[in-house]
Amino acid sequence: MDFVINVNTQPHSVDVDGDTPLLWVLRDVLGMTGTKFGCGMALCGACTVHIDGAPTRSCVTSIDSVGNSQVTTIEAIGATAAGAKIQRAWLDREVVQCGYCQSGQIMSATALLAGNPHPSDADIDDAMSGNICRCGTYVRIREAIKQAAQSAEQRG
Ligand code: FES
Ligand code: FES
Repeated sequence: MDFVINVNTQPHSVDVDGDTPLLWVLRDVLGMTGTKFGCGMALCGACTVHIDGAPTRSCVTSIDSVGNSQVTTIEAIGATAAGAKIQRAWLDREVVQCGYCQSGQIMSATALLAGNPHPSDADIDDAMSGNICRCGTYVRIREAIKQAAQSAEQRG
């Protein structure tokens, strides 16, 4: 079945079954492999993308539920103001270890910062609790989110 989905501000026509997870469409059909497969059950956060700005587990999001929504992936998040600040802070704080979970972490962190420019520790814990990191980069993730929030403050 043909679907037209909006990914990173571009329309894409894809011919897949309606129950195909968005994650597989992104990776296997559109070749956007920055979004990762971890658990396939909405438990790890590796597959997180934004749908109309909201962090969403693409492994359990069927393509027929996406409709006209705007999908944003790790490939384009740096083009957003919050995404650019988060990615800068990620580099400054050397957050990444193996890297596998990190695109999902960045997508969740960016959604947090975009909606809440001054997140408290509790806000950060709440927003990031669904993103698992087997390398245990949680402390640096929190530091990077705080740095990104401060840089947002300094620039007004
Ligand atoms: S792969 Fe989607 S939450 Fe783990
Ligand atoms: S950096 Fe390795 S799983 Fe998170």
